[in-house]
Amino acid sequence: MSDTANSTLSCRGLERFLGTDENRTHVLKGVNFDAHAGKTHAIVGPSGCGKSSLLYLLGLLDRPDAGEVFVCGKPMARVSDNARTSARNAYLGFVFQFHFLLPEFTAAENVMMPMRKRGSLDEKEMRQRALELLEAVGLGDKKERLATHLSGGEQQRVAIARAIANKPPVLLADEPTGNLDARNSGLAFELLAHLSREYDIAVVMVTHNPELAGRCDRVLHMLDGHFV
Ligand SMILES: Nc1ncnc2c1ncn2[C@@H]1O[C@H](COP(=O)(O)OP(=O)(O)OP(=O)(O)O)[C@@H](O)[C@H]1O
Ligand SMILES: [Mg+2]
Repeated sequence: MSDTANSTLSCRGLERFLGTDENRTHVLKGVNFDAHAGKTHAIVGPSGCGKSSLLYLLGLLDRPDAGEVFVCGKPMARVSDNARTSARNAYLGFVFQFHFLLPEFTAAENVMMPMRKRGSLDEKEMRQRALELLEAVGLGDKKERLATHLSGGEQQRVAIARAIANKPPVLLADEPTGNLDARNSGLAFELLAHLSREYDIAVVMVTHNPELAGRCDRVLHMLDGHFV
């Protein structure tokens, strides 16, 4: 296994218990993983095996009971909430099965949202980058459309553009195509793979679609809380 310092996102010996009393479940049982820049990684496995739980830990949305998560070489499991929040904003992008766009805002405004949160660009720069990203996902002509006036596949592409708005080195996606038809799943996947190469992003994608998983650079099989 490669050194954690050489990978964009890594974890070692991750353990996670969820629930209390008789519902307490050992969900992750010593997970090791390395994701590399410019590569797509698929995590596959049966429902309930722990894929989303792992993604929450890798995304610094939850803390492990044991083990460590390294983001760009830095250990993150036990640092302060503030340090985790700023690492999340600087290094991590997220795409979920349901895109969670803000319906009352345009495509461009949705893509600008993470840039506003980060606060390093002025209005004009943010708008310019949003337009570039929307062009990259094939929606340059729909930048001023309200999110609710876009198709499901288009909304998911806006969500992908939003996820890479701050040019994160890591993109985490939980069933990003789970809500799309076969054609749009293929398109959304191609887009993720293309952006990964183009911007040198480590893409980590949970998927139930074996065909899409097979098109990733690496496929990791999870079973009952660990990789097999
Ligand atoms: N709050 C909780 N209390 C107890 N068990 C939980 C809790 N949340 C999740 N679990 C259990 O953790 C296990 C892993 O859940 P997780 O959501 O990570 O699965 P998954 O692999 O993403 O499944 P799916 O493919 O269905 O999305 C499941 O068995 C689930 O029942
Ligand atoms: Mg899941």
